[in-house]
Amino acid sequence: MADTSKSEKIFNLSKRVIPGGVNSPVRAFKSVGGVPRVIDRGESGYLIDIDGNRYLDFCLSWGPLILGHADPDVVKAVGDQCAKGMTFGATTELEYQLAKFIVSQVEPVEKIRFVSSGTEAVMSAIRLARGFTGRDLILKFNGCYHGHSDHLLVEAGSGLATFGQPSSAGVPADTTKNTALLPLDDDNALEDFFAKYGDDLAAVIIEGIPANNGLLIQTHGFMRSLRALTEKHGALLILDEVITGFRLGMGGAAAYYGIYPDLLTYGKIIGGGMPVGAFGGRAEIMDHLSPEGEVYQAGTLSGNPLAMTAGLTTLQKLSDGTIHARLEDYNRRFVSKMMENLGGHAVNIVGVASMYWIVFQKDLPRRASDIDADGISHFNRIHSSILDSGIYLPPSGYEVCFISAAHTEEMLMDAADKLSDIIGKEAHVWA
Ligand SMILES: Cc1ncc(COP(=O)(O)O)c(C=O)c1O
Repeated sequence: MADTSKSEKIFNLSKRVIPGGVNSPVRAFKSVGGVPRVIDRGESGYLIDIDGNRYLDFCLSWGPLILGHADPDVVKAVGDQCAKGMTFGATTELEYQLAKFIVSQVEPVEKIRFVSSGTEAVMSAIRLARGFTGRDLILKFNGCYHGHSDHLLVEAGSGLATFGQPSSAGVPADTTKNTALLPLDDDNALEDFFAKYGDDLAAVIIEGIPANNGLLIQTHGFMRSLRALTEKHGALLILDEVITGFRLGMGGAAAYYGIYPDLLTYGKIIGGGMPVGAFGGRAEIMDHLSPEGEVYQAGTLSGNPLAMTAGLTTLQKLSDGTIHARLEDYNRRFVSKMMENLGGHAVNIVGVASMYWIVFQKDLPRRASDIDADGISHFNRIHSSILDSGIYLPPSGYEVCFISAAHTEEMLMDAADKLSDIIGKEAHVWA
């Protein structure tokens, strides 16, 4: 087993001054156990912890690092910008450049505004949707995560169409009473809901491909119904592309499904590893934002030059499509190799674009309620053996894994063998 004594020491010291020792809960390894690794640096596809252990990284900071760690072009662009100043609180040309670039790539985005996180992007998009429609009710889906703003920290009650109960202490029930929840992939529930509440609905929000609670790939049919019903009832469709934006190709999930959302939210990749978020969509809607319109929204570090330049450099490197095509090809082969190695075992590897998810169950889930908790506990049990083999996976069985342009074919094929070996020992054989 790897020496993790320095990580353990720093993590324990951190716990004295930072709640749980972490600045975002899942980093604490509560689901998987073991010592949370304290990271010293990233190099291409690898993470190196402060004990000097090296891991092939499939977490990639939860998605932003599609080019891998410390991509030389991104590092240079950020370094050059740092020398000129890190933030001005006034307009820079970089904001215009990144906005123009995104608008040129994503058809439904006619105007865009930058913020500093995905949470902020979604929170602002929902305020804008409510301001624009003059309605309060929003609809989200069980198993989709849209950041931690109060009105989205909801869980389902009983029954199909339920109005949200707060899923965190500190969220007043009053805040979530205008958030309705439905299961994913359920056309009947969707139609019933719209028949009852469609004309009161400000917006429906859904992840591009739900990827925060397993990888719950939705059908084109379901996504198109969602678009048709929202349009019919004058509600906005917000596609949350914080994960899928510029990962599922340049057009994201909107292009993947061939739908035209009213608003789209971004984060992760568009900041190239710097804190960022953005929301954009039809100009007619976006122009309701302050200072043009009546919907207030602001941010000290919004559109800061470091995030803008890291994002722009990243997106420009992706723009000719070769990286996306290679990632998709590598991911397909990586997933096939694992499935081949594990033939007959009670496990599935779900893959799309450059994301994959390991799930210990027979039928592939499309809804949160289809995920087998026992399957997740299998993953959680093997996480530390996987770390010991030199592979860093997100520390929860509900999380998806990412590959980057810095992952070579050789790294991936080797990892597929190592992972299948460990998974095969945990998974039983299909009955
Ligand atoms: C789909 C989606 N929306 C919103 C967010 C929130 O983004 P952030 O963590 O930058 O606030 C996330 C974060 O993982 C996400 O995956």
